[in-house]
Amino acid sequence: MTNRIVVGNLKMKMFKKDIAEYINIIDKYAFGKNIVICPTSLYIPFFDNKSYSIGMQNICHQNIGNFTGEIAANQAISMGVKYVIIGHSERRNNFNETDEIINQKVIEAINSGLNVILCIGETYDDKINHNTFEVLNKQLIKALKGVPESKLDTILVAYEPVWAIGTNVTASTLEIQSIIEYIKSLSTDFRHLKFLYGGSVNESNIYSLIEVKDLDGFLIGDVATDPHKFAKIIEVVVNQ
Ligand code: PGA
Repeated sequence: MTNRIVVGNLKMKMFKKDIAEYINIIDKYAFGKNIVICPTSLYIPFFDNKSYSIGMQNICHQNIGNFTGEIAANQAISMGVKYVIIGHSERRNNFNETDEIINQKVIEAINSGLNVILCIGETYDDKINHNTFEVLNKQLIKALKGVPESKLDTILVAYEPVWAIGTNVTASTLEIQSIIEYIKSLSTDFRHLKFLYGGSVNESNIYSLIEVKDLDGFLIGDVATDPHKFAKIIEVVVNQ
C-alpha cells in the first residue's frame, strides 16, 4: 500500500445525467483522503459526504467581492472541498491566467486552508528548444512567491507538460524523475513539496509511471471521466 495521491480532473466533460452512475461506480473503489475528485464545481454537492476528497478545478484570486461567476476559496472550504487545482495550462492559455494571478490564487487557497495542486508544464516548443527547466523554474518561483516555508508541504506540484495533455503521449519516467530532482535542487525549501505527474495517464501506462521513485501521485484528466478506467488506476496506485 502507498500514500500516493490520485487526482481526477473531470474538467467540463460530464453532465448531470452522468453523475449518479459515475458516483455509484467510483464509490466502490475510491476510499481515503488520498483519492481526490475534482468535478465541475456546480456538481460538487452531489459528492457530499464521500470517503474520498473533493477538489475544485479553479478558484478566484480574491476572497470576497464583485467577481461575477467566480468562487472564493473560503466558499469552497465551507462546502467541504479540500483541494484546488491552480495554474492548469488550460486556464493559463484559455483564460490568460498570468503567473501573478496564479500566485494570488495560491495565497488565497493557502490562507483558507485548501491543499493546492499547482500545475506547471512546458510547451512542445519549450521542450524542443531545451527551455523546459527554465520555464518550470519561472512558473514555480512566481507561483510560490510569499508562500511561507511551513506551508510548502501542503502544495502538490503537478508536472503537466502541455504537449502531454490529452495527446496520448506521456513524459518518460526518466524525464519526470529528472524534473523532480531539478526542482528539489533549486532550494532546500522545495524538498518539502510533493510531486504529481499529469498528461495522458491511463490504465495501461500507469504500470510504468508508478516506477518513478520520487512521484507522490498522479493528476488524471480524460481517463478520470471513465469510472471503470479511473478505478483501475486507483487500484494499481493504491496496491503498489
Ligand atoms: P489528460 O489531462 O489526462 O486528459 O491528459 C490531464 C490534465 O489536464 O490534468
